[in-house]
Amino acid sequence: MVFKNVSDFKNRIKKILITAEEIDAAIGRAAKKIDSLYDGKPLIIVGILKGSFVFMADVCRRVTVPCEVGFMAAKSYFEGTQSCGEVKITLDLHRDIEDCHVVILEDIVDTGRTLNDVAALLRSRKPASLTVITLLDKPDRREVDFAPDISLFTIPDLFVVGYGLDCGEYYRNLPYIAEYGE
Ligand code: IMP
Ligand code: MG
Repeated sequence: MVFKNVSDFKNRIKKILITAEEIDAAIGRAAKKIDSLYDGKPLIIVGILKGSFVFMADVCRRVTVPCEVGFMAAKSYFEGTQSCGEVKITLDLHRDIEDCHVVILEDIVDTGRTLNDVAALLRSRKPASLTVITLLDKPDRREVDFAPDISLFTIPDLFVVGYGLDCGEYYRNLPYIAEYGE
């Protein structure tokens, strides 16, 4: 990704869709939900890298159930805003999850292909339960029949960046979610 200058970089952030305060409030509600679902049962929280790293860090610090953290990585977007339709698991968990309670945290469900594949893979390992939580959901873009168990925000068909989400690896460090445009 090439920027002409700093203003070109900044001008691609078109509009703030979800503020840091709105995200924070939603994280609090999600953490409470996780606490009530698992009610003190040990849990493995699995973040899908890289997009979920900020979401994961915030959720982990708000839950009070005993939890381990783990990471997986799956690639469906390679460069810019174009999806290639194929999902590849590039990083897997380092432990067995049989009979464990597992929560997957993802940044966004777009076509649904990534989570459909990741959830099927984890389910095949026979966890005691599996709950899929996404920060953002773009249901208009769905290409496979997949629905997260919990979605914090439903957004229209726009390409968004910030709070972990990138365009060409940039903008992940924005504290809010914004529409991206060139
Ligand atoms: P899916 O497999 O099409 O559901 O895509 C999921 C992945 O695509 C997400 O984990 C993101 O990494 C990426 N993605 C989808 N939509 C956006 C977006 O609007 N901004 C940034 N990344 C996105
Ligand atoms: Mg992602």
